[in-house]
Amino acid sequence: MSGLFDLTGKVALVVGAGAGGLGERIAAALADQGASLALADRAERAADLAATALRCGTGVSTSFCDVTDEAQISALFDAVISAHGRVDILVNAAGVMLRKAYDETSLDEFQRVIGVNLTGTWLLNREAGRRMSPQGSGKIVNLSTVYAERVGPVPESAYYASKAGIANVTRALASELGPHGITVNCVAPGVFYPTQMTAALSESPDQLDWFARRTMLGRLGDPEQDIAGPVVLLASAASAYMTGQVIYVDGGWSAW
Ligand SMILES: NC(=O)c1ccc[n+]([C@@H]2O[C@H](COP(=O)([O-])OP(=O)(O)OC[C@H]3O[C@@H](n4cnc5c(N)ncnc54)[C@H](O)[C@@H]3O)[C@@H](O)[C@H]2O)c1
Repeated sequence: MSGLFDLTGKVALVVGAGAGGLGERIAAALADQGASLALADRAERAADLAATALRCGTGVSTSFCDVTDEAQISALFDAVISAHGRVDILVNAAGVMLRKAYDETSLDEFQRVIGVNLTGTWLLNREAGRRMSPQGSGKIVNLSTVYAERVGPVPESAYYASKAGIANVTRALASELGPHGITVNCVAPGVFYPTQMTAALSESPDQLDWFARRTMLGRLGDPEQDIAGPVVLLASAASAYMTGQVIYVDGGWSAW
């Protein structure tokens, strides 16, 4: 059974790995299973991305890419294929959050969140599909949230909309890419893993306590322990017959 999760000889591209958040934890886990790593993030994250690459081991390549820019995405895949020869696994952990009431959210802000989270996911998946199709295999893993099919108690309409869209982009491209031997799945973390993205919430212990009690397991998500396993599953042969799925990694939040 252990061979099912073995990623030796596979090349994994993890986008959004530069903030030390879920992307880094996912990258480290893929490397632990034997994958060669290519990491990407925005150019502003250069120093952080280099530090992440060092922590993830040797032979890790880094590239810069804004996921809202299709030319940069194409150049990213060129760079990864030039460095590693191919791309077998794409994990998109790039994302932004906006916590604002609907009537205080500007059109620009709404479009920015949709642009990074939803359009960025579609662009990355489109490019991965184009590059993986000729090889007849590939594993794409997107990140949504527990709010993929529901909303939460805090005002985040742009974020909720973008993350619901990611779930259906996942299903749609799974349908189109299945005949090419490529699986497309989505991990939906929830409701709270302490990272830079969620740092503001850490200042509200009462809210965190409510989040923890709202899960079936009675605790918050642990970025060190809880995300890597499901992503390795979806990136490996262990999930050969899974595609178009949204896998909730939320301590049971969505089951109630
Ligand atoms: N942390 C949580 O509790 C939680 C819960 C549910 C879902 N998620 C999702 O997991 C993913 C990772 O979240 P995280 O908590 O690690 O966040 P994070 O803020 O630590 O990491 C997000 C990364 O995305 C990068 N990024 C932002 N805009 C980009 C762009 N235009 N182009 C390229 N990269 C860009 C950032 O530089 C950063 O490295 C996100 O999609 C997030 O929505 C996180």
